Amino acid sequence: MWSATATTRTRASGDGGPARLLLVGVVMVVGAISLSASGVGVAAGKPKTPAEICAPMTTHPERVNQTQRALRPFWLHVPKCGTTFSVTMGQVHCPEARITEPVISTNKILKTPACKNRFARLTDPHDGLVLSETKRMVVMLRDPLDRVISGYLHKFHDCKSMQLKYCGAAYWDRCNTPPPQVLNSNPDTVLQYAKCVQGLATHMLNGHHSRDRNFQAPTPHEVLAAAKRLQEAAFVGIQEEWNKSVCLYRAMFGEGGMTDVSFGVARPSKYPENKNKVRKLLKDADWFDTADNLVYHAALERFKNDSLHFLGE
Ligand SMILES: *[C@@H]1O[C@H](CO)[C@@H](O)[C@H](O)[C@H]1NC(C)=O
Ligand SMILES: *[C@@H]1O[C@H](CO)[C@@H](O)[C@H](O)[C@H]1NC(C)=O
Ligand SMILES: *[C@@H]1O[C@H](CO)[C@@H](O)[C@H](O)[C@H]1NC(C)=O
Repeated sequence: MWSATATTRTRASGDGGPARLLLVGVVMVVGAISLSASGVGVAAGKPKTPAEICAPMTTHPERVNQTQRALRPFWLHVPKCGTTFSVTMGQVHCPEARITEPVISTNKILKTPACKNRFARLTDPHDGLVLSETKRMVVMLRDPLDRVISGYLHKFHDCKSMQLKYCGAAYWDRCNTPPPQVLNSNPDTVLQYAKCVQGLATHMLNGHHSRDRNFQAPTPHEVLAAAKRLQEAAFVGIQEEWNKSVCLYRAMFGEGGMTDVSFGVARPSKYPENKNKVRKLLKDADWFDTADNLVYHAALERFKNDSLHFLGE
């Protein structure tokens, strides 16, 4: 939404007065419509219940907590994959936290005394799986190509060597301005980054932290082990199927204090125009993360099976 506004305004800036005013007016109206559609606007009306939101995605929206498990989730937070799923977990397992915003630091959940023991792990840093916690694992995955694009544009997320080189700080949160290399999206830095974070999801599913080292191709054994752990996990969600993932979680582990906030988009991309540019550069270079693609496909299979089983479609 912001991107469309920004682009239209830039294009409109060369126009004469009235035409420009009209354009800006249209942009504002469109903006207001999409604001209320996303539930942010004041005139959005009564928020929908999770059952109402999930109704188109399941044959039986009234059925929740079908596993009858009191899950104490262990979150495997793969970078750039469903950060805000912590809101869903918070609402389901600790309604006492009273989450009312689609973006929230997990600290805020954990600071609520009642929530402390509800989670085996719910931290923000991207630590690897503790292998003994596999059966409690909750993880979201997304297409590896999109993950790389998103991380590249987010200050070389998880690539320490590039962060040091281009921002002079080892962590993205201390890297204050997006370096020009990011915004110019040149092929060398894009490929260097893609290689740096290659196999990241596979490595994390084998217990490595995202910031441990510059990543190298995982071994076939590690790929198989990662895929197997996705079969054993408590929950595997798919970022591209956000709402269905939230509905599946509800169907499997209960609704708790879930509201429409669990379905909201919290962090719209800051550089949407650059995304397509980076995507094209990676495609032109034939970049393909074999390990993470295999693991992503294992996740898709698991998700499909669970959806069929718990949502009925
Ligand atoms: C997900 O659900 C929310 C809440 O109903 C809705 O605003 C949003 O448009 C849905 N997203 C998609 C991609 O359908
Ligand atoms: C799901 O069911 C289990 C077993 O009855 C229960 O302990 C747990 O609290 C339920 N989960 C939610 C979110 O209601
Ligand atoms: C499909 O899902 C059901 C329910 O979770 C599970 O019992 C079954 O083992 C799964 N099958 C496969 C092949 O993953």
